[in-house]
Amino acid sequence: MDPELIKENAKKEISEAENLEKLNGVLKKYFGKEGELNSVLKSLLSMPPEERIRLGSQINEVKSFLRNQFDQKASELKKNLEERNGRKEKIDVSVPGKKPRVGTLHPLSRVKKRCEEIFQSMGFEVVEGPEMESEWYNFDALNIPHDHPARDLWDTFYLKNGLLLRTHTSPNQIRYMENHQPPLRIIVPGTVFRHEATDPSHEFQLIQLEGLMIDKKVSAANFKAIIEGFFKRFFNKNIKARLRPDFFPFVEPGFDVSISCVVCGGKGCSVCKKSGWIEVAGAGMVHPNVFKNAGLIPGDWQGWAFGFGIERLAMMKYKINDIRLFRSGDLRFLKQF
Ligand code: PHE
Repeated sequence: MDPELIKENAKKEISEAENLEKLNGVLKKYFGKEGELNSVLKSLLSMPPEERIRLGSQINEVKSFLRNQFDQKASELKKNLEERNGRKEKIDVSVPGKKPRVGTLHPLSRVKKRCEEIFQSMGFEVVEGPEMESEWYNFDALNIPHDHPARDLWDTFYLKNGLLLRTHTSPNQIRYMENHQPPLRIIVPGTVFRHEATDPSHEFQLIQLEGLMIDKKVSAANFKAIIEGFFKRFFNKNIKARLRPDFFPFVEPGFDVSISCVVCGGKGCSVCKKSGWIEVAGAGMVHPNVFKNAGLIPGDWQGWAFGFGIERLAMMKYKINDIRLFRSGDLRFLKQF
């Protein structure tokens, strides 16, 4: 077909296109792969050279002319469209931004971190140990022989590989003393497991924090001062600590550690069951057999150890009444922290 004719037809169709969709159709008709201009170009192949050159350059001219027409018409149609919609692209700076979703630390991680900070500031090193533990470290080395009734207290999950899930973080007293010469101060936070029916205050999995301080002369009075100082800072309140005799095979003497009630301050309320005190930890002076089992000479050293549950502290700090909420995965609970 004659390029001039194509040019005229196309020009007319472009100017008559009343929207972008139609214009696109016209574009395809002339410039598409099977379009009119291409088919003329193809026909050049069968022509003599001079003719080919002449027609070729004519087609190129037509092409660039039509391109221009298309572009002009397209921007004209776009402008019309925008005006009709009454919204030329504008940025409304007063529209509130989208709030980025940021995660938060799990309440147990927060409490664990805070405990670590406080003890670190008092010169304690943070160490960790395995959750799969041997009977030796979890029991025997801690002066709990096979037939000792105390094992009932720490009933646990026995694994097929001969190990067990540790019931407390105390095995790390042995593990650490085996490899480190006192004087030493450590805390050992970590998950422990117990064969336990769950209820609002019991879980079969919890996080404990063990503490151990060994030196030449270390007394229960030192322990009381440190633990009281810790709780004062943790609750940011004037907390008092109370030690009463208790039994744990790996300490002698052993203590039950209570703190003055964080809710009523000791007057007596429903949280402390009207006693004014809340039991929070087990503790005691390190037993000579524990020193021996860790390869130290008992007469050379003195020390104390304690262990408490992170969940208990978190529940008191944030007034949480069901321990099962921590691992419920319920975002309504977690988003409050
Ligand atoms: N390991 C003990 C428990 O889990 C707590 C404890 C630690 C007691 C250290 C005394 C000394 O109950």
